[in-house]
Parts: sequence; structure tokens; C-alpha cells
Amino acid sequence: MVNFVMALVCWSAFFFLVLLNPIEGRIGCFNSIISFGDSLTDTGNELHLTRNRNPPPYFATPPYGETFFHRPTGRFSNGRLIIDFIAESLGLPLVPPYLGGKGKKFRQGVNFAVGGATALDSAYLTNKGVRTTTNASLVIQLGWFKEMLSSHCKFPSECKEFLRKSLILVGEIGGNDFIYGFFGNNTKEEVESYVPAVINTISSAIQELMELGASTLVVPGGMPIGCSTALLTKFMLSDKEDYDPITGCINWLNQFSQNYNDFLQKELHLLRELHPSVTIIYADYYNAAMQFYVSPNTYGFTKGALIACCGAGGPYNYKFFELCGDLTARNICGDPSLYASWDGMHFTEAAYKLISTGLLEGNFTFPPLPKICTTSLSPNLNHFDS
Ligand SMILES: *[C@@H]1O[C@H](CO)[C@@H](O)[C@H](O)[C@H]1NC(C)=O
Ligand SMILES: *[C@@H]1O[C@H](CO)[C@@H](O)[C@H](O)[C@H]1NC(C)=O
Ligand SMILES: *[C@@H]1O[C@H](CO)[C@@H](O)[C@H](O)[C@H]1NC(C)=O
Repeated sequence: MVNFVMALVCWSAFFFLVLLNPIEGRIGCFNSIISFGDSLTDTGNELHLTRNRNPPPYFATPPYGETFFHRPTGRFSNGRLIIDFIAESLGLPLVPPYLGGKGKKFRQGVNFAVGGATALDSAYLTNKGVRTTTNASLVIQLGWFKEMLSSHCKFPSECKEFLRKSLILVGEIGGNDFIYGFFGNNTKEEVESYVPAVINTISSAIQELMELGASTLVVPGGMPIGCSTALLTKFMLSDKEDYDPITGCINWLNQFSQNYNDFLQKELHLLRELHPSVTIIYADYYNAAMQFYVSPNTYGFTKGALIACCGAGGPYNYKFFELCGDLTARNICGDPSLYASWDGMHFTEAAYKLISTGLLEGNFTFPPLPKICTTSLSPNLNHFDS
């Protein structure tokens, strides 16, 4: 009887840890999280870069951060982001921003993502007639990372060991390269012309990280930009047949995102063949988000997934020059969890949580995230000696 009860208890624990909470069972699998990206992932770098601005930038003002942190933290949301949910599930602290943290050890994680950042350097985009809001591109973020590494570990082998035991998020990055183009009235063909350059930049970053010792990388694809509140507003006068009848998203923009994601996955496939000992995981943000665009009610987004919670009115509650956080943007919803779109450009915590669950359960990660510890970190794997 005791044995039976014990078995039941053990099995329940197993069920809880492994089946219901696939990553939770592997606490200790990674020692740290290292991240690059844009406002989908920024936990305070852009806030640091704009700290002396008067008036403060829109995202430094309530209601940003109202749901979880109860103050603006530099996150472009009411609460936690995907990277926060990943950190929680790995039993690691929330990943601190690099900027403003000089002298910190960052033993358990560091975030280089900057709101507004592009994959391509801003000079390159400016040449293409595309204006950016920050020059903290992926190459600049990598530069900060190498600067940090040089003070973090004394010997290359120590750095490699640190990276080997880190989960490295390369993105999402690249979305802004395209969004800035579409906002700036560049044609679809013009924006398409620099897709290969974006892919190359991301690929080079991955290869550089692998050379430094990275052994597990998560590379997210782009979000469905045709469902972006801001772009829906920008292209509000589109023909009826440009919209998807189920989601209300703009078809050609989503097709753009899908083409880009296909291209990115082909590149990742190539990198996996060249570096079989490294685990490169594709995170399918597009389809993880598409779940709630297709059936918002199923996920509690009773106000639909396209209208922003916080804005200055208009059909989508979004205006280009009156952003959430600005004094004039007073149309703020009472319950952000009923919305997927927070401010028109970014998601609510509820939406980020849903996307994260999809990633962490393995439905939207290839290879599935719950399996990585058993494969990439097996003790007899000494790929960095080769
Ligand atoms: C990026 O921009 C900031 C201010 O806008 C400037 O101080 C800095 O020198 C720039 N960095 C590069 C690498 O261009
Ligand atoms: C894009 O075109 C619209 C309409 O012609 C114009 O109002 C807007 O200023 C343009 N935007 C840019 C960044 O050139
Ligand atoms: C993940 O996929 C499995 C099997 O297809 C399904 O049962 C489960 O509901 C999915 N989870 C999510 C969060 O969609």
C-alpha cells in the first residue's frame, strides 16, 4: 500500500514536472540566458539609452508595466515578455539589461535587446532610404556582448564554458527592418530587396556566437506583420480583398512575413548541417501568434486580437503620433488580458504568455524546446574541442 502510494506520488510528480511543465523538470539545464533582439525582448536597454530625454519616452510612462511590475521597467508591454516567461520556466532570474549594468557579473543572464533595433546597421538602411530610431543593430549588440565577455572570463576556455551552458536567444530581430520600410512608404519590392541582407546578418551573428562557444541557440522568426495594429492602421484604406476574412489581417503583409520565415528556416537548416554538434532551434512566433488571431475568443481576447488596449482612439485605437504613454493617449482599456495588442506595436502580457507556452511546450519550436537538454548538453559532447 505504501509502495503504491509512493508510486502514485512519484508518478504525479513526474506528470506535473515533465508532462504539464516540460521545461520545469529541467531546472539547472542552463546556467544563464543571453539575448539579442528588439522591443519584443528589451528589458530595459532602450530605457537606459533614453534616460536623459525630456519628456521621457512614451514607454517609460504608465500604464507601461502596470500589470506585473507595477512600474515602467523599459519593457514595451503592460507586463512580462516572452524572455521573462522563458527565464521563469528555466528557474532563472529575469534577464537584466546590459546597459546601465556596468560592473555587474551577469552570471545568470544578460540581455542586449534594444527597442527599435534592426538586424541591419542603420547606415545600411539609411542608404536604402529607410529611417531607423536607434543604431543599436545586431552587430552593435554583438559588440557589447564581446565587450562583456572580455571582462567576464579570464581565459577563452572559461568563456566557452559559460556560453556552452547558456541558452542564447538570437532575436526576434529583423522585424523592424521591414516595418520601418513599410512605414516609410517604401514599396514591397524595395523592402524585399534587403531580406537576404537581413538573413545574412542573423546568420553571421549565429556563426560568430558558435565560434565563441554557443551550443544552444533559439532563433525566432518574424511575427505576422499583417496583423500588426500599427500596420493595419497605416494600410487602413486597403481593398476589402486584401484582408483575411477570418483574422482581419492584411494578406500580402503576412505573406511577406511567411516568405521571410521560410528563407530564415532554410538558412538555419544550412547552419545545422555545417555545425551538427550545435543545437539551433527555430521558434515559430508567426504560428504561435496566429493561434489567437484565428480564434481570439478561445484565448480570452474578447475584444479581438487587432485593437490595441492602450492608444489615442481611431478604428484600431492606434495613432502614429500619439502613442500609448503619451499624455494625449487616454484611451486605455481596463483589463489588458482581454486584448492581444498592447500599444499597437507590441503585445500584452497575456499574449506573450500564450506564445511562450506554445514555445515551451514544444509545439512552436523546432526541434522542440523541451527536448534540448537531453540532446545538446549530453556530458560526452565536446564539440568545442574539435
Ligand atoms: C549611435 O547613436 C548615438 C546617439 O544617437 C551616438 O552617440 C553613437 O555614437 C552612435 N553609435 C554608432 C556606433 O554610430
Ligand atoms: C508616407 O506617405 C504618406 C501619404 O502620402 C505621408 O503622409 C507620409 O508623410 C509619408 N511618410 C514618410 C515617412 O515619408
Ligand atoms: C501542442 O500539441 C499537442 C499535440 O498536437 C496538443 O495536444 C496541445 O494542445 C498543443 N498545445 C498547445 C498549447 O497548443
